[in-house]
Amino acid sequence: TNPSLLILPGDGIGPEVMAEVRRVIDWFGDKRGLTIDVSEDLVGGAAYDAHGVPLTDETMEKAQSVDAVLLGAVGGPKYDDLDFSVKPERGLLRLRKEMDLFANLRPAQCFDALADFSSLKKDVVAGLDIMIVRELTSGIYFGEPRGIFTEGNERVGINTQRYTESEIDRVARNAFELAMKRSKKLCSMEKANVMESGILWREVVTKVGEDYPEVELSHMYADAGAMQLCRWPKQFDVIVTDNLFGDLLSDAAAMLTGSLGMLPSASLGAPMANGRPKAMYEPVHGSAPDIAGQGKANPIACVLSFAMALRYSFDQGAEADRLEAAIEQVLADGVRTADLLGEEGVTPVTTSEMGSAILAALDAS
Ligand code: NAI
Ligand code: MG
Repeated sequence: TNPSLLILPGDGIGPEVMAEVRRVIDWFGDKRGLTIDVSEDLVGGAAYDAHGVPLTDETMEKAQSVDAVLLGAVGGPKYDDLDFSVKPERGLLRLRKEMDLFANLRPAQCFDALADFSSLKKDVVAGLDIMIVRELTSGIYFGEPRGIFTEGNERVGINTQRYTESEIDRVARNAFELAMKRSKKLCSMEKANVMESGILWREVVTKVGEDYPEVELSHMYADAGAMQLCRWPKQFDVIVTDNLFGDLLSDAAAMLTGSLGMLPSASLGAPMANGRPKAMYEPVHGSAPDIAGQGKANPIACVLSFAMALRYSFDQGAEADRLEAAIEQVLADGVRTADLLGEEGVTPVTTSEMGSAILAALDAS
């Protein structure tokens, strides 16, 4: 049977960038005989406009039954004053929660042609290709007790860093599996020097590592890790860390590589019947209301998110390589959407022109 993909374009530039992904999907069907059963549905503000909720039960059920979900972006000023319970973001959070997507994969990949864009020196980032695995459903953002309490004559704000062994075990396993598909190098980051949850984290990750003797495992304190990420990021391949540290480290790593319009992500859960993890793929960027409807959006983040789906959900690593190489070629040829402009005298292309350039590069591959 064909792999199945549920597409949720969402709001703002979501549908604009997703239209280019549809063309890429069609290309793989026509030219590579890779047929994907694609269905499409509403999420976020678009779903609220049609149904009064940011995600219907029917869409939720569909998301649970497909091999992978690809989401554009949700939100926009039109929905800012909505009640919290029906805000566009709630649609996204419901998907993550009910699919139990506990591992957030954020690659930081620097295409050579864009190395000048980084806030770091060119040789530090050129060719960089690392993956941060962030625990997404537990830790300090969810731990109890939490709240603002009164203590004596002042208030105290409390959040609790809390990890169970099984929560650490499952995200660590995910990271080791990834490391096996890459360069077999994994660095785990916590603060075992000052946090008990960090001590347990290190212990459990080390234990899981016994099941992956081929993977070279190292440990680093997360603050030192932040320094090393800026100093010489190419020393890393896969990094696994908790929710809070992963939030910070992945945003910092993202800036090693330039524009928000280039960054894909994946959120993975437990293995399904087919052995592959439950998965949702999405660009890191939001709905970009400032440029929505103008044909200015860079579709590459969303196309790269689809490439991740090819690799991690559809077992099509070679086709994912092909797609990434096509993007590399387009960038090397100097094709730039407005967010990637830097060089003088370059005229930006539109969203669909970038899509066409990617298809042409695929044709030539
Ligand atoms: P944003 O990521 O939408 O935009 C930030 C800046 O980056 C803007 O100047 C935008 O034009 C630019 N940008 C983003 N993606 C781009 C692309 N593909 N090509 C070219 N330029 C791009 O973040 P912002 O402005 O903070 O949020 C806008 C809306 O998106 C809000 O409603 C927010 O809640 C929502 N949002 C949704 C997310 C999601 O669906 N996962 C994530 C982040 C924000
Ligand atoms: Mg963040």
